[in-house]
Amino acid sequence: MKRKKYLIDLPFITGNGNKASEINDILHQYGINIIQKNLSIDEIQSDDIREVAKKKISGIPASMDFAIIEDSGIFINALNGFPGVYSSYIYNTIGLNGILKLMANIENRNAYFISIITLKFDKKIILFEGMVKGRIGEKIKGNNNFGYDPIFIPDGNDKSYAELSLHEKSMTSHRKIAAEKLGEYIKENIDKILKKVNNKDKTCVQQLG
Ligand code: IMP
Repeated sequence: MKRKKYLIDLPFITGNGNKASEINDILHQYGINIIQKNLSIDEIQSDDIREVAKKKISGIPASMDFAIIEDSGIFINALNGFPGVYSSYIYNTIGLNGILKLMANIENRNAYFISIITLKFDKKIILFEGMVKGRIGEKIKGNNNFGYDPIFIPDGNDKSYAELSLHEKSMTSHRKIAAEKLGEYIKENIDKILKKVNNKDKTCVQQLG
């Protein structure tokens, strides 16, 4: 029997439009349309990015029973994983130049990005994780994308993420890996999801054929 196809709106709670565009770029092929919701939710501090994600999603309005958030960070091997869960704070304080100064004369420039996409659905919380390895460049390169992209060079590439287009970055990124895991989960659970979201959240669901 031919499987039915759907187009579902999935609320993504974030103030970061780049993240929303990157995740949308991946999830579109799964029939999922990201709707960015700029709500402020409390963020706890923890050394574990997964704990941050779990606590953060529990702070979203109880009426939203089908929604995602995303937590990410850059982890530099020679700095024992710093800035990691403090990536946002460090970006806004010492910035990219500060990181490059900390890395001066350090030979091991290996680093990785982690993305955790957290889905709240049917009172369950499910985490989808993606990781990508690379290195910290010697200098700031490129103007595209956001955050640490001008100093992160993914493995197998000479260009920084900021020298790639949004689509080129999102084809190889930590966020893509996490988003594809989410897409597969939604595909596998589509019947259950359609039943719940149709009734409760007035989330837009179109049956395409
Ligand atoms: P948060 O998950 O929004 O708290 O982001 C943590 C920090 O990591 C922010 O400063 C972001 O700019 C940065 N960040 C997260 N993902 C990426 C990425 O894909 N590229 C570059 N910087 C990122």
